[in-house]
Amino acid sequence: MQPETMFGRVPDAALTETDPPLLYPDYVGTRLRAPKEPLVLLPSSLSELTGPVYGDGALGEADADLTRQHAGEPLGERIVVTGRVLGSDGTPLRGQLVEIWQANAAGRYRHAVDTHDAPLDPNFTGWGRCLTDDDGTYRFTTVLPGAYPWGNHPNAWRPKHIHFSLFGRAFPERLVTQMYFPGDPLFPFDPIFNSIRNEGARQRLVSRFELELTQPDWALGFRFDIVLGGREATPLEEPHVD
Ligand SMILES: [Fe+2]
Repeated sequence: MQPETMFGRVPDAALTETDPPLLYPDYVGTRLRAPKEPLVLLPSSLSELTGPVYGDGALGEADADLTRQHAGEPLGERIVVTGRVLGSDGTPLRGQLVEIWQANAAGRYRHAVDTHDAPLDPNFTGWGRCLTDDDGTYRFTTVLPGAYPWGNHPNAWRPKHIHFSLFGRAFPERLVTQMYFPGDPLFPFDPIFNSIRNEGARQRLVSRFELELTQPDWALGFRFDIVLGGREATPLEEPHVD
């Protein structure tokens, strides 16, 4: 028996896959953007497969520290978010460009389409990037993002989250996902989180609080590993910003 959602039955395919389905009726945006026709695979061109190649030189010092990108410090709880990017066999993936974007502590994005009635923070852009090291580790310093309303359904609020993007060898290999924070009371009500029907896969999007990562008198520490493929794969989504 297929489970009921707020708007109907969940398609069979959605029940077994790690990644969220393209069409998940409770997540209203997917009704408009999910393809209605069979996908057409386009061959990759040479330019897509051979470039660009990212180098360390393109990264600024403050790119991985979202609390040091302006004259002052942003408001909010300072946090460290770190983890490893791993292949399906557990191999660390080094030199991977990891990008993040997030709302500020009040739940507001610095973006033209964000009209949430919450203050912008002049000291917070909400964007960062870094390369993984030889151990596949990335690390960001930022502030805890706030929850925000998003109009998907009455009284809809997104759990606190940070968007992640990874590039493989080329632009067509971009992978996007979201990291959540443990114990968020909004989990049961969020269609994006729940569009991943597999409980284990869903939990792999929730970071772990670690006292070992927590820096005394400075910042709380959260760990979020990203596994590309295999049984422990991190669920991935199509690129968009909700
Ligand atoms: Fe978001």
